[in-house]
Amino acid sequence: MSGQPFIKLHDGRLMPQLGLGVWQATVDQTRQAVSYALKTGYRSIDTAAIYQNEAGVGQAIQDSDIPREELFITTKLWNTDQLHAAEALQTSLQKLQLDYIDLYLLHWPCPQNNHYIAAWQQLIELQQQGLIKSIGVCNFQQQHLQAIIRETGVTPVINQIELHPLFQQRPLHAWNGLHHIQTESWSPLAQGGKGVFDQPQIRALAEKYAKTPAQIVIRWHIDNGLVVIPKSVTDTRIAENFAVFDFRLEKEELTALAALDAGQRLGPDPDNFNKV
Ligand SMILES: NC(=O)c1ccc[n+]([C@@H]2O[C@H](COP(=O)([O-])OP(=O)(O)OC[C@H]3O[C@@H](n4cnc5c(N)ncnc54)[C@H](OP(=O)(O)O)[C@@H]3O)[C@@H](O)[C@H]2O)c1
Repeated sequence: MSGQPFIKLHDGRLMPQLGLGVWQATVDQTRQAVSYALKTGYRSIDTAAIYQNEAGVGQAIQDSDIPREELFITTKLWNTDQLHAAEALQTSLQKLQLDYIDLYLLHWPCPQNNHYIAAWQQLIELQQQGLIKSIGVCNFQQQHLQAIIRETGVTPVINQIELHPLFQQRPLHAWNGLHHIQTESWSPLAQGGKGVFDQPQIRALAEKYAKTPAQIVIRWHIDNGLVVIPKSVTDTRIAENFAVFDFRLEKEELTALAALDAGQRLGPDPDNFNKV
């Protein structure tokens, strides 16, 4: 259909390498954006309980005639529910109008609260009950990953972290890889391309490949082996962000773009975010 690539997770499941993010979209915007994305060829959608738009994802799924098994739906357990994962999952399932989630993620470790290992244990049990196909985490640093693996023996399939050309997180990406944890990039466009789309190297590649800066950045994620979930509620951009399977960046171009890393986090630092 689109030639879109899939990544094999360490639990054997396949995940589309490119999906649609819906943070900061209303329920109606989400319904519309997800419907358009599904028509365009996207099969992976990334939402979260805290985005308060799971219902819009659910409505778009109902509106489409795509078989459930072709969809890959991700949602996330919010921090205040770390000790109530079963109830939170039921609420998400109802809003999404689904009987299972493809990928359920712990949203943040919140290490000061010291609940993330207990939360991970609950996700393991919910997966065993068949309510979740794959389980993973977001925003986990190496020490948080080590703790859950040590305490439960179960390794997350995914670590979804802030990652874009200005904040490349190469050490954590490499550590994830060594432990068969797939790295997934959030804010992959640096939240609308701020400070990225106008970089001369990005502009030169856009000209060379007759692509937009956003497409070059999305291709940079794909060619670095990352799962990538750019967000848009704009039809033309949703289509643009998916039109990236007819070219690839060369090795030297990827090496050159590594120089854009400025260690510039746009979101919170997971080590001290959201004490509750
Ligand atoms: N796990 C976590 O803690 C976490 C944190 C943040 C984000 N996420 C996930 O990652 C997803 C993506 O991150 P994000 O939403 O922060 O930022 P992003 O995808 O880096 O950027 C989204 C912004 O870029 C604009 N945009 C999209 N495509 C564009 C294009 N082709 N040209 C120019 N502008 C374009 C969008 O505008 P329009 O929508 O107006 O078109 C929006 O303002 C989120 O939606 C969410 O699913 C997860």
